[in-house]
Amino acid sequence: MSYAHITGWGMAVPERVLSNADLERMVDTTAAWILERTGIHERRIARDGQTPSILGAEAAWKALKVAGLKPTDLDLIVCATSTPEHLFPATACLIQDRLGATKAGAFDLLAACTGFIYGLNMAAQAIRSGSIRSALVVGTETLSRFVNWQDRNTCILFGDGAGAFVLQAGDEPGGVLSAVLHSDGSGGGLLSLPAGGSRHPATDATVSAGMHFIHMDGKEVFRFATRVMAQATRESLAAAGLELGDIHWIVPHQANMRIIDAAARSLKLPLDRFIVNIEKYGNTSTASIPMAVCEAFEQGLLKAGNRIVLVGFGAGLTWGALTAEWTGPVGGRRVQPWAYRVFARVRSAFRRLSRHIEGILWGGKG
Ligand code: UT7
Repeated sequence: MSYAHITGWGMAVPERVLSNADLERMVDTTAAWILERTGIHERRIARDGQTPSILGAEAAWKALKVAGLKPTDLDLIVCATSTPEHLFPATACLIQDRLGATKAGAFDLLAACTGFIYGLNMAAQAIRSGSIRSALVVGTETLSRFVNWQDRNTCILFGDGAGAFVLQAGDEPGGVLSAVLHSDGSGGGLLSLPAGGSRHPATDATVSAGMHFIHMDGKEVFRFATRVMAQATRESLAAAGLELGDIHWIVPHQANMRIIDAAARSLKLPLDRFIVNIEKYGNTSTASIPMAVCEAFEQGLLKAGNRIVLVGFGAGLTWGALTAEWTGPVGGRRVQPWAYRVFARVRSAFRRLSRHIEGILWGGKG
């Protein structure tokens, strides 16, 4: 049987920082309130044209470099995102093109902030089944494009960024050990982006009613989150045949420090067993867990052989947890990303040109 090992990781965030002090000047809030009620100090905001596929591909290049894998080795790309570039084509396909991952299948997965856990589990299952050998899972967001900057209930929370993991098949036990995924659509209205889909296509009326912004019942989402985080962690551990004492780190979705606090209390664990970087990036939805993992690794907290639980919740409602043993790079080749970047660009341009010429020759274009 194959195991699905996490062998590469990477993150990318926009350069522009929006601090609580900046928000103070934009809406009726105070920097102190935001920090006290959420734990967030600042967040990153994408510049014009800095899209989820650009951030996602940036994170992916880093993850591929760590894994020592070429983009052309990838069998599958799963992109979890709450802010896709389009309804279609999938953001995963845009990332595939940016990487020049010529043999990979690619699709988007929408499970909101739990999306990265869903995607990681789906990719791990595909590897364990033996149908593929390697996969890239990306969580990437530009939530700032959907935030109503006049709504103090939501605009203080969200930020932009991306994180990516590479998964590879291996014979050694380890990697993704278990996962539990849950949903409850009866709570769909608690956190939503009401318009822009087929139920409320974009019209002047939907735009003026603010239906293309994130709408949230913060209190209800908070209550739901504090209930499910500890429960999902326990379920995932039980499915892996492990106990809390076997786990080195819990990596929670970075939504609100008070939610993480509540989960720690409910699990009777000290907060220092939780990886937290919410103060720097706010809630980056699908990107928050892989970004927290990347920083934990950079800071030397997370090491090869450590066992971790990733746990999250989000719109849908969805929630879930995944238990893994951190493998680290398995000694792949030294990959020169710049060479593959050039290859990907040339390949993409060539594909467009040849499609155009074929259209003229055989498709009656021109
Ligand atoms: O990925 C999942 C995404 N969503 C979440 O995880 C959201 C979960 N919910 C939360 O994080 C919190 O509910 C919020 C941060 C959104 C709000 O914090 P809260 O402690 O639940 O505040 P609240 O809604 O109970 O409001 C308390 C007070 C209210 O004033 P009154 O009615 O007591 O006078 C609000 O109007 O705080 C006021 N308030 C604010 N004051 C200053 C609400 N937002 C703000 C603000 N600045 N930004």
